[in-house]
Amino acid sequence: MKNYPESLRLYEEAKLYSPGGVHTSIRNVEPHLIFTRAEGAYVYDADGNRYIDYQAAFGPFILGHNHPYVNGKVIEALGRTDLFGVGTTDLEIELAKKITKHVPSAEQVLFCNSGSEATYHAIRLSRAITGAKKLIKFQGCYHGWHDYVARNMLSAWDKIGTRDPGSAGMMDEAIDNTLICTFNDLENVEETFRQNKGEIAALIVEPIPHNVGCILPQPGFLAGLRQLCTDYGALLIFDEVITGFRHDIGGFQKVAGVTPDLTTMGKAMANGFPIAAVAGKKRYMQRFNTQPGGDVWFAGTYNGHAVGTAASIATIEMMENEPVHEHVFRLGDRMRGGLREILDRLGIEAYVAGFGSVWTTYFMGFEPKHYADLQHNDAEFYVAYRKKLIERGIFKMPMNIKRNSIGYSHTEQDIDDTLEAMEAVLKDMKNKH
Ligand SMILES: Cc1ncc(COP(=O)(O)O)c(C=O)c1O
Repeated sequence: MKNYPESLRLYEEAKLYSPGGVHTSIRNVEPHLIFTRAEGAYVYDADGNRYIDYQAAFGPFILGHNHPYVNGKVIEALGRTDLFGVGTTDLEIELAKKITKHVPSAEQVLFCNSGSEATYHAIRLSRAITGAKKLIKFQGCYHGWHDYVARNMLSAWDKIGTRDPGSAGMMDEAIDNTLICTFNDLENVEETFRQNKGEIAALIVEPIPHNVGCILPQPGFLAGLRQLCTDYGALLIFDEVITGFRHDIGGFQKVAGVTPDLTTMGKAMANGFPIAAVAGKKRYMQRFNTQPGGDVWFAGTYNGHAVGTAASIATIEMMENEPVHEHVFRLGDRMRGGLREILDRLGIEAYVAGFGSVWTTYFMGFEPKHYADLQHNDAEFYVAYRKKLIERGIFKMPMNIKRNSIGYSHTEQDIDDTLEAMEAVLKDMKNKH
């Protein structure tokens, strides 16, 4: 049993100066741990407790915290440069070369600072190209905080299929021009295209909806979306902010063999440093007004900052030169295999979902195909399980339907220690259930 007196003291102090004491809404979870140190696979709270970290700050840490190679390259870059606000930098050119080399859809790329910016730019570009207004997204997918996409995300179950804006203060026109479809249901998507013929600018999708854990696209689904977008003259946007670089150096599009028109990236592209990107076909990218004559606004004071670009180059170099994906996929399989065995042995109804370095255990009896299926997950058990793991030094976000991420710094021993803790917690919970 861990104690958190210093975390609690700091949390009380934080609340005096910032609403809720946190700087992103879903960080406000119990227990209110304040982390003060991070290294490799581990994070340490203000009371000195150590945790094996699978939250990975919602996904960026594909290599692990404070990775020495990445940090070294950032420090080296900062020793000679920072930000100029004019022209381009050698780091921007080098990073753009790498991304266009590895990511199939990326004929050209532009850098910004967050995934939300990237999806905003991709959607506005799609509207400029097609002259159409509407956007299709899927129930349960998250693409950032802005008005174009912030609806029908983690909807309450009785809000599925209804108009469900994620925030007060959103523009009605933005909400109502974003149409909501069901993931893995091509007929539903086709019907939406048919009913809105000529009005759809783009379809945006997380190729694996990781914001709700891990729902895999069924065979043919992503290729079907590609075909529908082509048939109806809409742009296909793969939001690879989570999947990009985590599942393959070329993104999940490379794994799936489906090439979107535009791709958004962030998170694992720089192992925790702030940078994001929008990429795509050259004929589309040239509409951005970074190209003389382009008419789609693209700007940002911090775009291409030395910190993010140097970190991203170093992260991609690690993937080019070391068996990063082989390692995290192997550990992911070890975790999923071990968990299935434990759950079977204990006779607990559960579905262990995942891909590569990502996994989650839904407490339900079948593979979920779309958001509504997740109603069958025992949310109370799911969150209680995660909280009990925190007490044993395993940190996973204590919130319903969240994924866990493994990084290159995790070892087989970390996975085995985690499995041991999971077994103890599950046994205990089963006995009390
Ligand atoms: C798939 C996806 N797209 C976009 C975003 C928004 O990225 P950011 O939080 O960097 O703005 C997120 C963030 O979690 C995401 O998961």
